[in-house]
Amino acid sequence: MKLFVDTGNLKEIEALASLGIVDGVTTNPSLLAKETGDYREILKQICRTVQGPVSAEVVATDTAGMLREGRDLASIDEHIVVKVPFTKDGVRACKTLASEGHRVNVTLIFSATQAWLAAKVGAAFVSPFVGRLDDVGTTGMNLVREIVEIFDNFEYSTEVLVASVRNPIHVIEAARMGADVVTCPPAVYDACFNHPLTDLGLERFLKDWKQAQDAKQVKS
Ligand code: E4P
Repeated sequence: MKLFVDTGNLKEIEALASLGIVDGVTTNPSLLAKETGDYREILKQICRTVQGPVSAEVVATDTAGMLREGRDLASIDEHIVVKVPFTKDGVRACKTLASEGHRVNVTLIFSATQAWLAAKVGAAFVSPFVGRLDDVGTTGMNLVREIVEIFDNFEYSTEVLVASVRNPIHVIEAARMGADVVTCPPAVYDACFNHPLTDLGLERFLKDWKQAQDAKQVKS
């Protein structure tokens, strides 16, 4: 399963990429709005850093505008994946952009039929938002299971990109279900890394080692 970072912050991306575990990045208008500077330059630097798929989202809501913005975003760097929302205009834009050879991530997926329709028009990725479904009292990961099953049944090459991830349980379930990609905010990376028993264990090893060295020094 590929692991993406869900942020528009270059420093966060650089820190995680230096661990050698980042395969790509997802951004959205809310995330990029938090950053200062020219968004095209930010996206260019993100692409340079990760050398993998970087989703950049259109903000137009009509097909013509999405096509204009999508082509412009794709011209920033070969790693850019154009992100379009799942609407009728977005589906039309996805079909055209995909036919031109651009990779498209269809976002804001909340049902299996939406994912299936996006796959039919050549989406490279679909992004089911699991956390936001959990927020409204639905089990978001059930949607991922359905989409993976449907794509497997018909051998769609569209990748299932699990988005709106809030905790390590989402990550583990995504992997167990056979999702292609999970995109995590930096806080979820931290939660996946940290375990108090690792910290305690290391502290104990180092303490035992130091005590033994000190004792040897006293004897000699
Ligand atoms: C995905 O590409 C989106 O950027 C993201 O996962 C949205 O998640 P949120 O629900 O935490 O905003």
